[in-house]
Amino acid sequence: MFELGALPPLTIKGKKIILPIIQGGMGVGVSLYPLASAVAREGGLGIVSSACLDRLVSKRNGKKYETRDAAYEEVSLAKAAGGFAGINVMGALVRDYNDSVKGAIDAGADAIISGAGLPLSLPAIQPPKDTALIPIVSSARALELISKKWERLHYRPDAIVLEGPLAGGHLGFKIDQIDLECNTLENLFPPVKEMAMKYGDFPVIVAGGIYTRDDIIRFLKMGADGVQMGTRFLATEESSATEEYKRAVVEAKEEDILVAYNPGSPCGLPFRVIRQSAMFVSAENKLRAPKCDKGYVLLKDAEGKFSVCPAKESNERHFCICNGLLSSAGYNRDKEEPLYTVGTNAARVDKILSVKILMDELAGRVLAPVA
Ligand SMILES: Cc1cc2nc3c(=O)[nH]c(=O)nc-3n(C[C@H](O)[C@H](O)[C@H](O)COP(=O)(O)O)c2cc1C
Ligand code: SF4
Repeated sequence: MFELGALPPLTIKGKKIILPIIQGGMGVGVSLYPLASAVAREGGLGIVSSACLDRLVSKRNGKKYETRDAAYEEVSLAKAAGGFAGINVMGALVRDYNDSVKGAIDAGADAIISGAGLPLSLPAIQPPKDTALIPIVSSARALELISKKWERLHYRPDAIVLEGPLAGGHLGFKIDQIDLECNTLENLFPPVKEMAMKYGDFPVIVAGGIYTRDDIIRFLKMGADGVQMGTRFLATEESSATEEYKRAVVEAKEEDILVAYNPGSPCGLPFRVIRQSAMFVSAENKLRAPKCDKGYVLLKDAEGKFSVCPAKESNERHFCICNGLLSSAGYNRDKEEPLYTVGTNAARVDKILSVKILMDELAGRVLAPVA
């Protein structure tokens, strides 16, 4: 149906995105405006990550930015050269969540995509105007919970991302459920699509393990409206990962990629990493003395103060994800070891491409290289 022709567009909240391809938000500091803007210009939806943006933008501009202003600046820059661009805001970053959402809406973000926890109150933070609100879910049940809660807030999701267990970053599955046959993206899709029809027939975008144009076509034929891809965009010239990170992705083999759990992320969700990442190795060998100087994943204590993170007490069962990921984006890399997160498909990446070449390949504007 689509093989020879163009991929169909993806319409979200009345906006027609030329290609049904969303570049997934990649924090910390991997998907910043250079990547999102390049994707937007090529006809996809480019997404910046809100994680630790206050520090990253302050460093880039040489003056202090608060979270809301940093989100405003990054989204504005991502949209400046045309096309559609938005932001990814993780529920696990509780402290900065609302300010990131407000800054993005003020800047006219085309979408706010939110996962790593259920974004139950997202529509209540600030009237979203033209900004589409898009939860990330890993099951039909999670979608139902969100849809019911949002109904009470008089809002219907503008689209949803269904993310399966092959994705990079945090995974929305218990560690022992990741490899179950019932949790493949293909098997998760039908009940989620049905649930989306029940609550308003909004677009369903699939993510996790999508690598080629054929993968995209396969899911469109199953009834998906679009795809979200991370790992392929991590391995582009425009991504803001350090050169060492990109090289580690190119060199990673299947056996080098694992789901970290113990030691794992202080957010409590399974987290996929390259095994040789220095911060992961240090945690395994109990080498890093804990130090909490960034505080992005802190939760509130009994007195309502943001002071709780398991990586504060010990870095044996939990690595310090704020510092590991900031270092992977080039921040404080002389002081902190990097932590490289990837999707399973990192094992297939053999070179770094420009966004244009990648998008041309996915859109079918050129023939894909023979594997
Ligand atoms: C380096 C990296 C960082 C990521 N960071 C985030 C993030 O901050 N928030 C989020 O919701 N998803 C994050 N993800 C998930 C991606 O947005 C995307 O949904 C997922 O990687 C899709 O799977 P794929 O990598 O197989 O294409 C990240 C993925 C990667 C590879
Ligand atoms: S201990 Fe590390 S991971 Fe936890 S909030 Fe502090 S800086 Fe972040």
